[in-house]
Amino acid sequence: MSVTVRVPAKVNVQLAVGGARSDGFHDLANVFLAVGLYDEVTVTPAASLRVTCSGPGSDQVPLDSSNLAARAALALAERAGISASSAAVHIHIDKDIPVAGGMAGGSADAAGALVACDALWGLGTSRGELLSLCAELGSDVPFSLVGGAALGVGRGEQLTSLPVGGSFHWVFAVADGGLSTPAVYREFDRLWAGRSVPEPVASDALLSALRVGDAVALASAVSNDLQPAALSLFPSLRETLDVGMAAGALASLVSGSGPTTAFLAKSAESAAAVAEALLASGTCRAARVASAPAAGATVV
Ligand code: C5P
Repeated sequence: MSVTVRVPAKVNVQLAVGGARSDGFHDLANVFLAVGLYDEVTVTPAASLRVTCSGPGSDQVPLDSSNLAARAALALAERAGISASSAAVHIHIDKDIPVAGGMAGGSADAAGALVACDALWGLGTSRGELLSLCAELGSDVPFSLVGGAALGVGRGEQLTSLPVGGSFHWVFAVADGGLSTPAVYREFDRLWAGRSVPEPVASDALLSALRVGDAVALASAVSNDLQPAALSLFPSLRETLDVGMAAGALASLVSGSGPTTAFLAKSAESAAAVAEALLASGTCRAARVASAPAAGATVV
């Protein structure tokens, strides 16, 4: 018997970042939107805990106990009082979310493993408990569980679901190479050194654009405070952003800590044209079209 869970990627339509806290994290006003690019996590009983991975970029995914999906399975077993031998599972991750791309692929796999193991072991863990396990695993993991759209505060893990009044067309340009999230936050701190960082606050205009499903209004409200840091570490992303705008995107921004870049389009046709222009430009490795919002972790 095995259980498969499908989990979406995310884009941050607003990522407002405050100053570094004493625990090293940053307070955020983080508006997550789940997008229709998915990893699938399948768990099957096995002799010992084992992780395998297929799909683009899978060679960069760690298969040892540092894999976030493996850590999720172990954390759930421990919480439920299941012994390590009874909790032994083979976790297979079929990746479609860009690896190390700022689209929460690792977080998606952790949320997927939690939901899949919960079903496999027949635990019926409450939503609240699953969310608290998610928050222990990483700042973006709770959102991968819930999907849709949400405002995350604290380090991004304290979520409030947001209403979304329509669907949005996105294009994602996958960069050649990855960026480490801690390195991007360190660069953010370096760029702000000696100045006081404003309190992160969610934009009313952005929340209202999501609520009414207005892509043009959303385009003028998107923002990412990590973008200058990501561009500083990966300057060629500027060119990718420019190509997408020249091809008719309503807005372009770095996705989370990057280096994936995100383009909001006014229609499915425009999204296809933006993707084609991005690919033709040679400034990215792949261009993916996806619509949003997408559902959170779901057993398939
Ligand atoms: O929580 P997560 O493991 O995804 O965070 C990865 C790293 O990103 C943290 O170790 C920290 O360096 C940085 N981070 C941060 N502030 C946040 C979220 C993440 O500084 N709110």
